[in-house]
This record gives sequence, structure tokens and C-alpha cells, in this order.
Amino acid sequence: MDKRPSNQTPAAPNPSIEGSVFIASDGTKKILRRRRPLLQVENLTVVLGGHTILRDINLTIRRGETIAIIGESGCGKTVFLKNMIGLISPSEGRVLFDGKDIATLGDKELTETRTRYGFVFQMAALFDSLTISENVAFPLRQHRKDMSNREILDRVRSLLEEVGLNPDVVWKKTPSELSGGMRKRVGFARALAMEPDLMLYDEPTTGLDPIMSDVVNQLMIHARDKLHVAAALVTHDMKSACSVANRLVMLYPNARLRPDEPQIIFDGTPDEIERCGDKRVLQFVRGEAGDRMREL
Ligand SMILES: Nc1ncnc2c1ncn2[C@@H]1O[C@H](COP(=O)(O)OP(=O)(O)OP(=O)(O)O)[C@@H](O)[C@H]1O
Ligand SMILES: [Mg+2]
Repeated sequence: MDKRPSNQTPAAPNPSIEGSVFIASDGTKKILRRRRPLLQVENLTVVLGGHTILRDINLTIRRGETIAIIGESGCGKTVFLKNMIGLISPSEGRVLFDGKDIATLGDKELTETRTRYGFVFQMAALFDSLTISENVAFPLRQHRKDMSNREILDRVRSLLEEVGLNPDVVWKKTPSELSGGMRKRVGFARALAMEPDLMLYDEPTTGLDPIMSDVVNQLMIHARDKLHVAAALVTHDMKSACSVANRLVMLYPNARLRPDEPQIIFDGTPDEIERCGDKRVLQFVRGEAGDRMREL
């Protein structure tokens, strides 16, 4: 039974305002203790080479949430990802990581902040001359001066196990001695070494065979469900986007929009995208060229 006094409508808590007061269902006042979003993109505009690539983008990624950024080639997905980590600066607007505007951070603070991100790109990008264990240990040796050698090696061992590799088998091997799927796993282990809060994946399955794509999808799902790491996944691969992401965000090329049209043309769950009425979204989801055939 609702015990609320009938004349009191509980104010909806505003999840973006930490410390906001609301009336709980038992009628008592409560202070919202929800943590702020991990990443907040506010009115982001990016102009490169005289072209506006991103225009007035707003996006929030909450802790533990995995979003997929989809959209056709050249619409600005990679530029968006680079803004999230401060590799490209906004022309207007800002990107807040854990409440801090990353464009205002000094070198030391920016380096520290970047250790809270993990990247996985299409190529595993391992150091060919280092062994697998040293590849995974690399970020720890760079940034965790407080850890002893023994602690680092123990951590490397558990990271390799985490991504489904047998440490005893791969420990002293070099990347060239592993299969592509194993190298992918090592790349993941290295990205997870610093216990990141936010993983950034740029086309991690593009060009891979279906089995290897599945390995990558499983690793992303593992990071989401077992390690509760938030992530932004940029992909063309709808199967990967729908199996890995809680939420899909579709960008449209700014050059083909009117100035009053928003550049994010879809923001919702994988189920919702199937029912979306926007022709541009459905064409992308179904892999249809539509009107664009004439342009290409
Ligand atoms: N450093 C740069 N200087 C100038 N233009 C750039 C720069 N980086 C990207 N661009 C332009 O920005 C646009 C978006 O590029 P971006 O790489 O973000 O596309 P994308 O959506 O990731 O495409 P794809 O799916 O092919 O990877 C492109 O037109 C690209 O040429
Ligand atoms: Mg790209």
C-alpha cells in the first residue's frame, strides 16, 4: 500500500543533480546520493579543416553502461571517440570525465586521467619485441610505481586468465607466435590492466572473420557484465552493437543535415531501434543504400 500522504506528490529526483532533495515513497525527505555520470558531453562542436564534423552533441555515459556509436563512414564516430579522451579538443562545448572538463587539465592530470581509460582498436597493436607478459605489464610498469615486480607479475597472470588465456602457455611468447584471436585477448588484457572506468573500442571487429568477431564480442560482454566497466563502442557491425551495447546512439553526417536538425538521429535500446520510424536509421540498420545509391 502507498503510505504517502495524499497531498504530497514526490518530486522526481533529478539524477543529474547530486545532493538534490526528493520525497521518498514513505513521505520522508531524502537526499539523492547517486554518483554523477562517468562521461558528460555537453554541446560539443568539432570543426576540422574548416568542416564542422560534430555539431552540438550532448551525450551522457553512466558508470557500467555500454553504448554503441553507429553511423555511416565519415560521420564523425572516431572524431567523437578522440574527443572523449582529449586527443581532439572541442571547438565549442565540453567533455567532462568524472565531472572534470578534460580540456582544462594540465599534462600531469591528463596523463593520470587517461590511465582511467582502456582502448581497444581494430589491430591489437602489441609491441612485437616484447613478450606477452611484458606487453600486459607495460601500462603497470609505466604508471603503477607503487606496485612491486611480484605484484605486477601476479596481476598480469590474473589478467591473462581473465581474458581466457593460459598464462603458462603464452607468458614468454612474442605476439608473432600467437594466433590473431589470442593477440586480441592480449590486447584486451593490456587495456584492462589499469582497471579502467571507461573502455573505448574503435571498430574492434571490422575485418575479422566471424569467429574472431565473436571472441571480441565475448570479451566486451565480459568487461560489461563481470567487470562492470563502462564503454563506448564505435562500430559498423550491427550484430556486435546489439549484442554488446545497452544503448545505441546513431550519428548522421553533419554535412547532410539542415542546421536545425540534431546530429544524433537515434538514442535508444537495441529493441527500440528495430521499431524506429526514421528512414535513415532503418536504412542503416538493415544495410540498405536507399537514396544514397545516387550519390555514390
Ligand atoms: N585530423 C583531422 N583533420 C581534418 N579532418 C579530419 C581529421 N580527422 C577526421 N577528419 C574528418 O572528419 C570526418 C569524420 O571522420 P571520422 O574518422 O570520425 O569518421 P568515422 O565516422 O569514424 O568513419 P569510419 O567509419 O570510416 O571510420 C571525415 O570527413 C574526416 O576526413
Ligand atoms: Mg572511424
